[in-house]
Amino acid sequence: MCIGAHVDRMRAGGYNPIGVLRMNTEPVLKPLYSREDIAAAVEKLANEIRRDYLGKRLVIVGILKGSFMFIADLIRQLNIPVEVEFVVLSSYGEGTESSGNIRMVKGLSTDIKGRDVLVVEDIIDSGYTINFLLDYLRRHRPASFKLCVLLDKRERRKVPVVIDYRGFTVPNKFVVGYGIDWDEKFRYLPDIRYID
Ligand code: IMP
Ligand code: MG
Repeated sequence: MCIGAHVDRMRAGGYNPIGVLRMNTEPVLKPLYSREDIAAAVEKLANEIRRDYLGKRLVIVGILKGSFMFIADLIRQLNIPVEVEFVVLSSYGEGTESSGNIRMVKGLSTDIKGRDVLVVEDIIDSGYTINFLLDYLRRHRPASFKLCVLLDKRERRKVPVVIDYRGFTVPNKFVVGYGIDWDEKFRYLPDIRYID
């Protein structure tokens, strides 16, 4: 069993960085979005969200671990009172692709019934993970929910996802940095790169 970054790891296989590992070489990282690009995108998203949620009691829900850096920056730019919740998901299987076989390891620790919920996610690929979370949240009957995503890898979508706030549409590459990992590596990078 693997938890937390599980899904990130499964994804990694889809791009075959495992092969890179076997060759015992470090993957080559190429720049995609600089710190400045990210800061500008976060500011733009925060402005849109603030406008839409002014005067409401917003609950932000993130999935650990990939979204932690994005959420930390976003809520500081938002400049309105928010609550922050994290859930932990796990996924099983040998597959290199997201199987959709997802399980909740840690759910919400607050009641979101009647609340305005904004799910904030680092990256959407097949869409299985976010659909699983949205189904879970729906069952808790929030007053509203919307989705904010930093990176939309829409070419890879297997199930439809409605994104209300989007940072970037990314090419079909395996990306790392700014909280996003490859096998727990590269989360700490302040910018976003892709594995060449
Ligand atoms: P999905 O269920 O296929 O949409 O996968 C979503 C999750 O897979 C994201 O939350 C990430 O954790 C992970 N993921 C998808 N693409 C990448 C990538 O390019 N780099 C690292 N993790 C990724
Ligand atoms: Mg994630």
